[in-house]
This record gives sequence, structure tokens and C-alpha cells, in this order.
Amino acid sequence: MRVSKYFNNLRDKKVMITAGPTREHWDPVRFLSNGSSGQMGVALALEAARLGANVTLILGPIPGPIPRKRKNLRVLRVVSAEEMDEKVQEYLPGTRVFVGAAAVADYRPAVILRQKIKGKPEKTTLNLLRNPDIIAKVAKRGPNRPSVVIGFALETQDVLENASDKLRDKGLDWIVANRETNLGAPEGSATLLSRWQERMAIGHMTKERLAKQIWKALLDRPAL
Ligand code: CTP
Repeated sequence: MRVSKYFNNLRDKKVMITAGPTREHWDPVRFLSNGSSGQMGVALALEAARLGANVTLILGPIPGPIPRKRKNLRVLRVVSAEEMDEKVQEYLPGTRVFVGAAAVADYRPAVILRQKIKGKPEKTTLNLLRNPDIIAKVAKRGPNRPSVVIGFALETQDVLENASDKLRDKGLDWIVANRETNLGAPEGSATLLSRWQERMAIGHMTKERLAKQIWKALLDRPAL
């Protein structure tokens, strides 16, 4: 089986990380989105690059600064979930570790108007289409699947139960379970769950420290 349970360092390994929200426009100035700041994914990308990985960060629209490009960190900007999915598929070959930290919008407007909508009817409806599940597509790629696929679960209730359902349904190896209060916040806490029923809680700390702790927890284990 190609899926390895453990990997002991990131040096020269190809790591891909999605981060930030996506924006789903229905006209040039209006969109559906969420409050993700992208900080968690950016922090994971910077730490992976510091640990020697070759990192591709696929980043949605975020308010803060974009990490500076460097020799082993490539940053690709996207807006919508479909664009994020396309970039992931394009750059995925050879990826050893995939991390889905993005807060991907689940739906997009069925029609995107080229011009701003005019007129204000009292009542209106927006038809939505389901977006691709980017991480599930990556995890279910068969022989071309990265060795390790790590997702995030953002939950308002039954955090561990919902996260472990996502871990199973999306075919992931690990999932970082966290609460909606982490969304857009500079700090947070998390629990790591694995498909091998491991569970590791990480206390409340800055996203930078959380990123270090997450990589440490994943790497600090026997190599195969
Ligand atoms: N994800 C993704 N593509 C989507 C939706 C989610 O790749 N279209 C990924 C996220 O990056 C994250 C994981 O799936 O790694 C879980 O995301 P989350 O927003 O917590 O869950 P959803 O799949 O959207 O499920 P729900 O809205 O029911 O909680």
C-alpha cells in the first residue's frame, strides 16, 4: 500500500497547502464567502518551508500580507473554489503531503453576471451549485494520491464526532478538528485525529505556534 502512516521529516518533500477562504461571485462586486483569514494555512506553509519542504501554497483572497515568495515556497493566488480545484489538480503531481487548510465555500452561484445587478426587488433568490470537494478528490486519487492527506474540520458543535466523520468520508489520513471561534482569529486550539484512531490535543496558542505543533506532532513519530 502506498499510503504511509508515518513520515519523519519534510526535507525536500513536496508539500501542497490550500489556505484562506474562497469567494463565489454572482456579479463583479458581490460574492459569498466566509471569515477565514488564511493565517493557519500560511503558518503551516511557512513552517513546512522552514523545515526544508518544497511548498506550494494555494491561497484564496485574504486581508493580511501574502508570504514572500522564496526558493522553496511558491504562492499561487486563487479566488473561487473551482479555481482552487484547478490549481490543485495542475500542481499536485509528485506531492507527498497535502494539507487542506482552506475554508472552501461549499456552493457557488449558478450564474455569474458580467455586470453589477441593478434594481432591488423586495424578494429574490440565488441559485447555487455544489462546489467540488477539493480534498476528497485529492485523497481518492488512487495510485497518484499523496502519501499523507491532512484536512481541517471547522465545527460549531460535536467537534470530534463531526471531524472524525469527515476524516472517514473524505478518505483522509489526519484531520485537525477545531471550533468556529478559530476562524479568522490570531490564536486557536485543535485536536488532531488520525484514521488509525490516534488523538492528540493541542492547547490554545498563536496560529504560528499551532502550525509548529501540528508539524511536530505529525513528524515526531517513527519513520516507516
Ligand atoms: N474542503 C475542500 N473542498 C470543499 C469543502 C471542504 O477541500 N469544497 C476541505 C477543507 O479544506 C477542509 C475539509 O474539507 O480540509 C473540511 O472542511 P469543512 O469546511 O470543515 O467541512 P465541509 O466539507 O465544508 O463540511 P460541512 O460544511 O458540512 O461542515
